[in-house]
Amino acid sequence: MESTSQLNTEEQIFPTYKKWNITFKSASGSTITDQKGKTYIDLMAGVGVVNLGHGHPAVLKAVEQQLHEGWHASNFFHYEGQQKTAELLTKYSCGDLVFFANSGAEANEGAIKLARKHTGRRKIISFLQSFHGRTFGSMAATGQDSIHKGFGPMLEGFEYVPYNDVKALENAIDEDTAAVIVEPVQGEGGVIPGDPSFLQAVEAAAKKKDALFICDEIQTGIGRTGAFFAHQHSGLQPDIITTAKALGNGFPAGAVIGKVHLKEAFGPGSHGTTFGGNPLAMAAAQATLQTIIEEDWSQKAAEKGEALINELKKKLSSLSVVKEIRGKGMMIGIELTEPAGEKILKLQEKGVLAIAAGPNVIRLLPPLTIEWDTLMQGVQALEETLNNK
Ligand SMILES: Cc1ncc(COP(=O)(O)O)c(C=O)c1O
Repeated sequence: MESTSQLNTEEQIFPTYKKWNITFKSASGSTITDQKGKTYIDLMAGVGVVNLGHGHPAVLKAVEQQLHEGWHASNFFHYEGQQKTAELLTKYSCGDLVFFANSGAEANEGAIKLARKHTGRRKIISFLQSFHGRTFGSMAATGQDSIHKGFGPMLEGFEYVPYNDVKALENAIDEDTAAVIVEPVQGEGGVIPGDPSFLQAVEAAAKKKDALFICDEIQTGIGRTGAFFAHQHSGLQPDIITTAKALGNGFPAGAVIGKVHLKEAFGPGSHGTTFGGNPLAMAAAQATLQTIIEEDWSQKAAEKGEALINELKKKLSSLSVVKEIRGKGMMIGIELTEPAGEKILKLQEKGVLAIAAGPNVIRLLPPLTIEWDTLMQGVQALEETLNNK
């Protein structure tokens, strides 16, 4: 049957994203080329996804090989790639068991279900300005009214307290609290690092009430902040870690990493997914993790990130439009005194890609592998843009 739609071909995608005037053609390393042949320096890495750069040879090779061997059987089969990826995720974290999902929201959905099932409790506490995803559970956990608007009623049992405020959390947490979920550095909320003492107090408060302590490492994980997981900077031992974005270096993959005492709550038939942990995703994830770990990209991100923040402070701090420069590793926010969106479009004209976090923050999440010279070209464009040149 022929469609009666009146829309033009460019309009056949739901407008959930305010799309830029750039059509992706190809990407390599730290650059993206559009269909007009313009090449951009990528300082956003697909929103913290391609930590090893676009088309990294090890990931490409692993996916290519798996493509020929088969890409779906079902989670009723043992998949060697899942086992190997789980071994890496548990070896380099405090977790023992992994459930593989397809995305960040799904990983958080799994974590929330696991916490309620294990504790038999209802309440999930999260933080204002947090972001945990767009599905009903992860959206309810997200502490931003603008994300909830129009989708009510929200799931019951979710409460929000201010970030970096220990007292507020201690007052909210009680015997009905299943879990506290926290981003070690708030990403979408404006690149706001959690104070180590705050994060440690959150963990202690959760453990005191026998609630689970969940770290959402979907944006901060896999080397981004200069540690394999950002909570490791503060010496935390979460019961559950969720991760996604950079896990497959651009191939969709997510994971819930839990402590062994949670095993029974996720027994046969309790939770599932058709595609989560499929062999292609696991080939990408395994190759990504091996490369991040063997080549120590976490440490390199710590060093490069520190040098980048210093450079940004040196060049931009004195500008009246710049309010604060902050971040951890290669996750950096430049808070402005005016909306960031317009500056981001100006940057694009100069061939540089960055992304906003909240209304006034320009967020930089470059590939960890970006060459210093390329990075400095990006910084120069930023300096010119913020100087209105
Ligand atoms: C901290 C955090 N949690 C969860 C999500 C949701 O991940 P996804 O978009 O893969 O569902 C995001 C995405 O930006 C995120 O930054």
